[in-house]
Amino acid sequence: MKNTPINFEIVKKKIDASGLKPDISSSTIREIVRLVNEIQEETGEKFVRMEMGVPGLPTPETLINAEIEALKSGVVSSKYPMIEGNAELKNEAARFVKLFINQDVEGKHCIPAVGSMQSAMALFLTVNRLSEKRNKILFIDPGFPVQKQQCHVLGIGYDTFDVYDYRGEKLKDKIESYLKTGEFSSIIYSNPNNPSWISFTEKELKIIGDLATKYNTVVLEDLAYFGMDFRKDYSIPGEAPYQPSVANYTDNYVIMLSSSKVFSFAGERVGIMVVSPALFDKSFDGLKRNYKKDTFGYALIYGALYTLSAGVNHSAQVGMAKMFKAVNDGEYNFIEGIKPYAERAKVMKKLLIENGFKIVYDKDEDQLISDGFYFTFSYPGLTGSELLEELLYYGISAISLKITGSKRTEGLRACVSQVLPEQFDTLEYRLKRFHEDHQ
Ligand SMILES: Cc1ncc(COP(=O)(O)O)c(C=O)c1O
Repeated sequence: MKNTPINFEIVKKKIDASGLKPDISSSTIREIVRLVNEIQEETGEKFVRMEMGVPGLPTPETLINAEIEALKSGVVSSKYPMIEGNAELKNEAARFVKLFINQDVEGKHCIPAVGSMQSAMALFLTVNRLSEKRNKILFIDPGFPVQKQQCHVLGIGYDTFDVYDYRGEKLKDKIESYLKTGEFSSIIYSNPNNPSWISFTEKELKIIGDLATKYNTVVLEDLAYFGMDFRKDYSIPGEAPYQPSVANYTDNYVIMLSSSKVFSFAGERVGIMVVSPALFDKSFDGLKRNYKKDTFGYALIYGALYTLSAGVNHSAQVGMAKMFKAVNDGEYNFIEGIKPYAERAKVMKKLLIENGFKIVYDKDEDQLISDGFYFTFSYPGLTGSELLEELLYYGISAISLKITGSKRTEGLRACVSQVLPEQFDTLEYRLKRFHEDHQ
């Protein structure tokens, strides 16, 4: 029996029984969560858990208090919310977009959904019906795996490429090679990116925006990690620098805002779709096949969104409205609230590098990426599958990049949110042991 920080036999037994082999790197996040829970239970040892992207910070009090008050007022819980959303939330969201992205939109262009997860579902159901011929989504990968699952569930076709080899100017020809087929209704990416934590440069956003305009393609810009490129301070309302966005380069955009990570509000499930004013009122012949009206905004709200849920949780909308207001009024600095993630990532990356690991997606063109919610890493000589499995014997869990559409299959994704500073010594000890045993 090998001597590893976590009992070798138990880990081996649990991995063998999990059914996740031979290729453990194809496991979903939830499958890894289950396996690690089982190992922890039987060994009594606590893992350094880096597999799941759950917020690890408390929800701001402003938000909780506003939601409690809304519930206590007795009005909100008994009535159905409006499909297009609570007026106060819509208006504060529009203010937020002006103050932090520097884009002019009105409340009507800001539509709450049950998290960005539902935003994507409603948007896929809309963009793919704009025209009969344009019926595929282009994923700029790596990406959030569930969005592809949504396409599978909806029977929507998609294509994808790993952006690793196509940064900067090279992005243009690559994206154009897809769009010129005339088959793509939309392009989707997250920025900063889950899982790689790369952030597109202004040059790259301009390339995406220009091509979207040229080929009449809608960009679905997923800003689930709004403002979390901590190399710049995006936290001052109405002052540059603003959160970078493709909205500066095309009218064909929808921005997905999520409250989950930025406001640690994942449990209440509320996000906002910001539809470009020009796109909102634009007519598309294809929409008439599935929707009553042919305008984008109408089809999205009263067609797609209506069928997914009868509106968004009333009290969560009130909470979010007050939160946006506090942020917009400069009373709450939302970036300060989430900076601990960057501090954790900095230490964790340093410990990994000191012990022979490499950061896989390490640069935005010529600049080192930001520290933030996720990072990617590999260990020379091991495949992603081998690394994921080996690390379990050392009490460290992560997910493979393989399930994110990345071609860098040697890599794993680490999420810093559940790793508390009190665990850094343990992490260091386990990484040292790993390095000693694998040189
Ligand atoms: C890139 C990305 N988009 C969307 C989501 C889902 O966001 P929400 O919790 O608002 O549904 C996540 C959550 O991890 C994510 O990483």
